[in-house]
Amino acid sequence: MDKIAILTRDCAGINASIRSVVRTAFYHNIEVVGVLKGYDGLIDGEFLPLNRRSVSGIINQGGTILKTARSKRFRTESGQKQAVQTIHDNDIDGVIVIGGNGSLTGAHILATQYDIPVIGIPATIDNDINGVDLAIGSDTAVNVALDALDKIRDTATSLERIFVMEVMGRNCGYIALRVALAGGCEEVLVPEMDSNIESTCEEIQASYDKGKVSWIVVVAEGKAKAQDIADTITKRTGLETRVAVLGHIQRGGRPTAIDRILAARLGNYAVDVLRNGATDQCVSLKNDMLTTIPLGIAIQPKDIDVNGYYKLIKILT
Ligand code: F6P
Repeated sequence: MDKIAILTRDCAGINASIRSVVRTAFYHNIEVVGVLKGYDGLIDGEFLPLNRRSVSGIINQGGTILKTARSKRFRTESGQKQAVQTIHDNDIDGVIVIGGNGSLTGAHILATQYDIPVIGIPATIDNDINGVDLAIGSDTAVNVALDALDKIRDTATSLERIFVMEVMGRNCGYIALRVALAGGCEEVLVPEMDSNIESTCEEIQASYDKGKVSWIVVVAEGKAKAQDIADTITKRTGLETRVAVLGHIQRGGRPTAIDRILAARLGNYAVDVLRNGATDQCVSLKNDMLTTIPLGIAIQPKDIDVNGYYKLIKILT
C-alpha cells in the first residue's frame, strides 16, 4: 500500500484522528492525501497532500482541517462512479472515512459496490454507530452540554425557575440522556421514548405545591422544540419558563482527553487494518481493546438503554 486518502465529517476529535492516521501512515512510508469537503471533494478530486508537519498543532482543535459537506451527488450512481474514477486516477490504494452514519454508509458503498479498500472510523456526537461503544466527539459534546446545563442550573436555582434545555440528536437521545443524568435533571424527553408532557406538567405542579421551585427539562432536538415544551408547561401550570437551545456549540470545541485518546488509537488502528488487507470494516474499542466490526453492521440502527437511563434519572431526581 503506497497511498491512502482520508475523508471526514466534522466534530471534536476528528482533527486528532486525522493526525493519528497521517503520522501512522508516514511511519509506514505511506503517502496520505486529505479529501477536501467530504464526498463532493472525492468526486471532484479536491485533495490536500498531508505530511507530518501539516497535522502539527491540530490535536486540540475542533472541526476538521479538511472541511466537509453533505454530498447530494454521492447519493447518485453517477456521483459514486465519478468518485471511484478519481480514486483510480490518483493511484489511491485505500480510503479511511471518519464520520457518522452518513459517512460510513458512503464508505460501505465504496467497499462493497466498487471494490475500494475502505476502513471507517466512528465519529459523531450522537454516538449512534451500531456495535460501537463510543464514537469520537460524543464525549466532548456531552461535556459541552453539561457545562451549559450547570450554568443554567445556577440561574434556575437562584430565580426559582423552570428551564427547558434543547440538545442535539435528530434521531437519537444519547446526548440528552447522558447530560440529564450527569446534570441531575428532573426530566428528559428523547425520540426513542413515548413521553407524556401532560404527566410531566402534573409532576411539576405537584412538586411545586410541595415547595420544589426549580426544574430542568432536557429535550433532544429530534423529540420536540424546547420552546413548545416550555409553552406547554407554562400553559398547564401557570409557572414561568425559560429556554436554552444549545445547537452546534456541542459539535465544536476542544476535544476532551477521552476523545483525543480514542482518536489517536482508532486512527492508528485504521491504518494498520487497511495495510493488512481489511476492507469494509469500522474500527472500534471493546473492553478497551481495539477491534473491528463490519461497516454493514455499524450503519444499522443502534439500541441504547433508554429505559435504564430514564429510570435512573427519575430515581435520582
Ligand atoms: O449527526 C450529528 C448531528 O450533529 C445531529 O445531532 C444533528 O441533528 C445534525 O448532526 C445536524 O446536522 P447539520 O449540521 O447538517 O445541521
